[in-house]
Amino acid sequence: MKKQSSSPHSSMGFTVWFTGLPGAGKSTLAKLLESRLRVLGLPVETLNGDEVRKRLTKGLGFSREDRLENIRRITYVANLITRVGGISIVADISPYAQSRDEARKEIKNFVEVYVQCPLKTCIERDPKGLYAKAQQGKVLHFTGISDPYEEPLNPTIIVETEKENPEESTKKVLLELQNLNLILSI
Ligand SMILES: Nc1ncnc2c1ncn2[C@@H]1O[C@H](COP(=O)(O)OP(=O)(O)OP(=O)(O)O)[C@@H](O)[C@H]1O
Ligand SMILES: [Mg+2]
Repeated sequence: MKKQSSSPHSSMGFTVWFTGLPGAGKSTLAKLLESRLRVLGLPVETLNGDEVRKRLTKGLGFSREDRLENIRRITYVANLITRVGGISIVADISPYAQSRDEARKEIKNFVEVYVQCPLKTCIERDPKGLYAKAQQGKVLHFTGISDPYEEPLNPTIIVETEKENPEESTKKVLLELQNLNLILSI
């Protein structure tokens, strides 16, 4: 059997983990990064919080315990992808430092991206209309309003989505992946 040639760009698995407030820009950046990496011919999959909660973690709620369990399951899948040399992108609020720390311990080549955006701007953006509902008390346990978000203290990368456009933020991530020798060229 002919040996499969590896991609000229990367042969190493890694996980890019986007964390940040609702509306900070995680899904937007995950989608853009995924398409950039795919164009390079790299094997990439995205675990997006919204989709994950409809499938992998269906039935879990938003208590601290359930949020930790949600992230543990995402971590498990991200690790499987990473271990076989794939790239996994995670886009999830992941509000607790504990769960991000657990993910970092479990996953080799874990790249934590703090998608930073002031709460005020996230509230103005309100892409899903959930901040408005949370402020009216119609959504409980809503991160930033009635649930905590623990900022990453030492993330690999910080993108500031109030100041940067999505292209600029994505470029920052790609350059850092290159610096870390996780991808060869961009
Ligand atoms: N640099 C940037 N990066 C990402 N998004 C940006 C940026 N600048 C402006 N935006 C806008 O901010 C909004 C972010 O929405 P998005 O759904 O990506 O947030 P999210 O972090 O995935 O939220 P949630 O946790 O609710 O899923 C979009 O409307 C996007 O166009
Ligand atoms: Mg999202």
